[in-house]
Amino acid sequence: MKNILIINGPNLNLLAKREPEIYGNVSFEDFLIELRQEFPDIEISYYQTNHEGAIIDKLQAAADTFEAVILNAAAYTHTSIAISDTLKMLNIPIVEVHISNINQREEYRKFSYVSNHAALIIMGEGLAGYAKAVSFLANL
Ligand code: DQA
Repeated sequence: MKNILIINGPNLNLLAKREPEIYGNVSFEDFLIELRQEFPDIEISYYQTNHEGAIIDKLQAAADTFEAVILNAAAYTHTSIAISDTLKMLNIPIVEVHISNINQREEYRKFSYVSNHAALIIMGEGLAGYAKAVSFLANL
């Protein structure tokens, strides 16, 4: 596995500013520097968007360009049949990551439209969950 795309959904551009007691105080950009250093042999691309359709466009294009996707669809995790339909068509492995433990929060966060299509689900481990996801994919 040489090429991995990380997709982060809405509001994850505000990491370090947004509810730090839940999501921590490190921005994804800062974390990404460390992540790339930890996995020097893997090309880790990163895309963040606040728009559902943009996640779908990126996922559709990913199959031709990347060997795997790490997806934190954020709030769309709990609402998006459209993202679920796209994931169903994708023929590369997906790892679902959530910074917080969505099973230990509000009821409406417990259901995920992503999980059915994920080779692995990681939650509640903070940003370290993304490193765990890369490590899993690196060993596939
Ligand atoms: C999240 C959990 C979601 O419920 C929430 O809407 C997010 C982030 C997480 O990483 O913990 O925006 O996906």
